[in-house]
Amino acid sequence: MVRSWLGFWKVRRDKNESERAEELGKAIDYDRLPIHIAIIMDGNGRWATRRGLPRAMGHRAGVESLREIVKACSSLGIKYLTVYAFSTENWKRPAEEVNILMDLLVEYLEKEIHELHENNVRIKAIGRIDELPKKAREALYRDEEYTRKNSGLTLNLALNYGGRNEIVEAVKRIGREIAGDKLNPDEVTEEVIAGYLYTAGIPDPDLLIRPSGELRISNFLLWQAAYSEFWYSPVLWPDFRKVHLLEAIVDYQRRQRRFGGLKTK
Ligand code: IPE
Ligand code: IPE
Ligand code: MG
Repeated sequence: MVRSWLGFWKVRRDKNESERAEELGKAIDYDRLPIHIAIIMDGNGRWATRRGLPRAMGHRAGVESLREIVKACSSLGIKYLTVYAFSTENWKRPAEEVNILMDLLVEYLEKEIHELHENNVRIKAIGRIDELPKKAREALYRDEEYTRKNSGLTLNLALNYGGRNEIVEAVKRIGREIAGDKLNPDEVTEEVIAGYLYTAGIPDPDLLIRPSGELRISNFLLWQAAYSEFWYSPVLWPDFRKVHLLEAIVDYQRRQRRFGGLKTK
């Protein structure tokens, strides 16, 4: 009985969601899509705890959301999607949870890589990848190489990523160039600094999404998000579906970006 009621509820939810997704799909202006979307995939632990499940189950459910959102971005024609999967601060968590997250990453890549490749998706890892466990590091390097020539969506996986650490690393490299007389300090511009970040050559995110109700940046894309449009949602990442992505895009398209200038028209 409980099962059938749950099933009924799910069908209803799916139906409402798909109707809403269809409506939103029609409301989108496909000529003004964000070029780069960034997402802080947050709320996995709370999703599991609320169901009396171990946190690991929340992370596993979160992978399903990632799958759906990557597919949706790819078919919408979004050029860049950057997802925050593991921060430089997430090492503070119990080793068991860290290990589960690393295993899930490897599993995700193994299961998805062929479909991603068929869909012309290019994989790129951003963060201190050299400090990740060997199996995660190798899977990332392998899949970056495998999808290197793809020209559809670029999926940036932010792993062992911290915005401050990224800037520190850039400053170190710039310092070495100056010390080696390869760069003149007077020629350091914003563009030069951007060229030393993990995201070199990638336009700044237009839209930055954070689910799970938290209203903070948590060390994500500090430099790049200077003029990103923020979109928050109380929905936890494992419940985040295409419909929520479409809501965020429609909302983004209603906003006026001024970049410090004045309202045009
Ligand atoms: C996001 O979910 C996943 C990572 C940070 C790796 P959390 O694990 O932070 O989930 P909450 O915030 O505890 O609910
Ligand atoms: C941000 O979420 C990092 C990722 C989603 C990978 P956290 O859960 O680590 O952030 P805080 O601790 O709530 O700021
Ligand atoms: Mg969290």
